[in-house]
Amino acid sequence: MKNKIYKFVMTIGIFAMVFSCKNTTDKKADQVQNGQDTVAISNEDLYRPNFHFSPEKGWMNDPNGMFYYNGYYHLYFQHYPDGTTWGPMHWGHAISTDLFNWKEQPIALFPDELGYIFSGSAVVDIENTSSFGVDGKTPIVAIYTSHDPKKEKTGDIDVENQSIAYSLDEGLTWTKYEGNPVLKNPGVRDFRDPKVSWDDERKRWNMVVAAGQEIQFYISKDLKSWEKLTSFGEGIGNHSGVWECPDLFQLPVIGSSEKKWVLLVSINPGGPNTGSATQYFVGDFNGSNFIVDESFKEEMKREHSFWVDHGRDNYAGVTFSNIENKDGGKLFMGWMSNWLYANEVPTEKWRSATTTARTLELVKGKNTYRLIANPVPELHEFKSKKLENLDVVLEGNTLLTTSKAIDFTSAQINFKVEDLVDGVYTFELSNSEGDSLRFGYDATKGNYFVDRNKAGITDFSNKFSDRIATAPKIATQKDWTGTIVLDKTSIELFFDDGQTVMTEIFFPKAPFDSLYFEAPLEESKLEYIEIHQLKFNLN
Ligand code: FRU
Repeated sequence: MKNKIYKFVMTIGIFAMVFSCKNTTDKKADQVQNGQDTVAISNEDLYRPNFHFSPEKGWMNDPNGMFYYNGYYHLYFQHYPDGTTWGPMHWGHAISTDLFNWKEQPIALFPDELGYIFSGSAVVDIENTSSFGVDGKTPIVAIYTSHDPKKEKTGDIDVENQSIAYSLDEGLTWTKYEGNPVLKNPGVRDFRDPKVSWDDERKRWNMVVAAGQEIQFYISKDLKSWEKLTSFGEGIGNHSGVWECPDLFQLPVIGSSEKKWVLLVSINPGGPNTGSATQYFVGDFNGSNFIVDESFKEEMKREHSFWVDHGRDNYAGVTFSNIENKDGGKLFMGWMSNWLYANEVPTEKWRSATTTARTLELVKGKNTYRLIANPVPELHEFKSKKLENLDVVLEGNTLLTTSKAIDFTSAQINFKVEDLVDGVYTFELSNSEGDSLRFGYDATKGNYFVDRNKAGITDFSNKFSDRIATAPKIATQKDWTGTIVLDKTSIELFFDDGQTVMTEIFFPKAPFDSLYFEAPLEESKLEYIEIHQLKFNLN
């Protein structure tokens, strides 16, 4: 097939777009070579995401304390400002009005005598239950883990305790509570990542917190004194690694009047494609007990674990507080990396980014409930030009378009393939350096895949490209739809309306300049493909 002369029939509603020249002023240390001509692109220009949040400098991991208030989305994050590997944790801070243009703010929380500031959540205490609010100001209360490195060294058990801090200026500056810690370690070495939400029915706060390999449930009236109710996790779910960063929330089941509760639990290692990943459970919560739904339990016998994202680079994600979508969906963001190699990725000034903000919803699938994830609708607002070829005749590995028409470092692709037949459907992004990122659907195996093994620099860790990541097709229909979100170093795949999601990072030696598609049979049909340039008003 590959030797054929390619014949294209493309109806292209096209435009002339000059591939935006990258700013190449910062031509220092690690420049890359492009063919025989040396085109120097700084590490910063090549890898700094266009629209995913990354810190100006230093290390980042989990998103923390995300909330919405007075027109601003607040993102705090695990941050070590003085180095590009994990170190004494602070909470960094960024704000946005649209979830894509993020403005980094001064550091929100610094390590103190109780230790490093590990992951946690933040709530808008509208009723001033904490009585931190003065002069009518609404307090924002952050609930986080104090991790004591001294106790860690001496081998003590009570290394991790829960603390709180409050802000009276809408999340910009914080005061730590003098009564910290508010929740003492119950005798488990790993006791962290409290996620707090308001139980409107019982007029009290719920906390879920990871304790070893279970999730514990606590309640409080004032965010200061906490009472333990129950725990969840023994004998259920994936236990190949430590449990971290839980989240508990209710979602309407799309197309019915039913509501169900979802519990997210991040696990490291033990992910479906190695390393870190986030599993979920669907059930009911009666204010004290989380009970997994029977149909979900049955399905777990076949599938074992349910994953928010099957890719290797979406970890520790949780939902924003104080916001609900019109249809009741929840707003979610994760850390776009993996503990297997996060400390080694080849960026110079900073490490890591967050995922695209996503809407989480619940559907009733064939046998049980499924969490689906899709990019937030706000992303549509950044679509500028569109390239569409509604009638592509495929022959062999067909070039769909190049960087003359679309800048693949900031793009969204929507497509549909109808009447799937056995064989492999592959999209490929490539560049003049010979780098190639391949992803698609193996219809014979029923698996989606991402192959980044030749997508650029991979030798910084032998864990980064030791396999092709795969994910099951969960949807039962015989076609394949997808939304692909592309930034400089990441691909986020939302297949079949978000039923199978994969997020993966990569580090090409030059920006990708060509997009190909290959289908198993020539009569296979790419029903439609739309490629949108995304444009952000970053400042
Ligand atoms: C998850 C995690 C959390 C912890 C934080 C430390 O990635 O390990 O459990 O609070 O990172 O930075």
